[in-house]
Amino acid sequence: MLKIAVCVSGGGTNLQAIIDAIDSKKITNAEISVVISNNKNAYALERAKKHGIEAICISPKDFENRDEFNRSFLEKLDSYHVDLVVLAGFLVVIPKAMIEKYQNKIINIHPSLIPSFCGKGYYGLKVHEGVLSRGVKVTGATVHFVDEGTDTGPIILQKAVEVQEGDTPEVLQRRVMEQAEWQIMPKAIDLIANGKVSVCDRCVHIAE
Ligand code: GRF
Repeated sequence: MLKIAVCVSGGGTNLQAIIDAIDSKKITNAEISVVISNNKNAYALERAKKHGIEAICISPKDFENRDEFNRSFLEKLDSYHVDLVVLAGFLVVIPKAMIEKYQNKIINIHPSLIPSFCGKGYYGLKVHEGVLSRGVKVTGATVHFVDEGTDTGPIILQKAVEVQEGDTPEVLQRRVMEQAEWQIMPKAIDLIANGKVSVCDRCVHIAE
């Protein structure tokens, strides 16, 4: 059974998609051990509690400096002995020590087709603003392993979504979540939980 920690900062719709997929057995061989938020007001924490999942908050605001927060965050995460860390709308820069310790064990969802609209400055609605201001016709979402760069890790799954005339960033974000994020994130977890994902030379291979 793959033990998962899900890290969140906000509404937690991706977390909900994972919970639902576990309940409906679209994800097998996996369980969520803990949900960790950096924001005590994140609705994602409520979603976890409603499902009887342990939900904790570790806020940088409660620490003297970033190093202290990073150390404490990693210590807490380690204490759950998880096999996979899922970043589901987690708006915290992942400390280097954590990336080294959890190599190919941290996955992230990014709301564009990487390598388009990724890197510093492209997060959340900013991605969709960028897509719309360039008149892009097709966008989507990407699930990837996290490495030391920003949105540079090996890509696991991607799904394309049409941009429509008259879209606002909010409308486009919703479509990308519904048609791509909430599908490929649970799918990627299921593939990992069932031993179908391997990484070689920074490329992901998915077994049949
Ligand atoms: C998603 O669009 C995700 O791609 C981005 O932040 C959003 C998180 O939404 N990084 P939610 O908290 O899962 O509802």
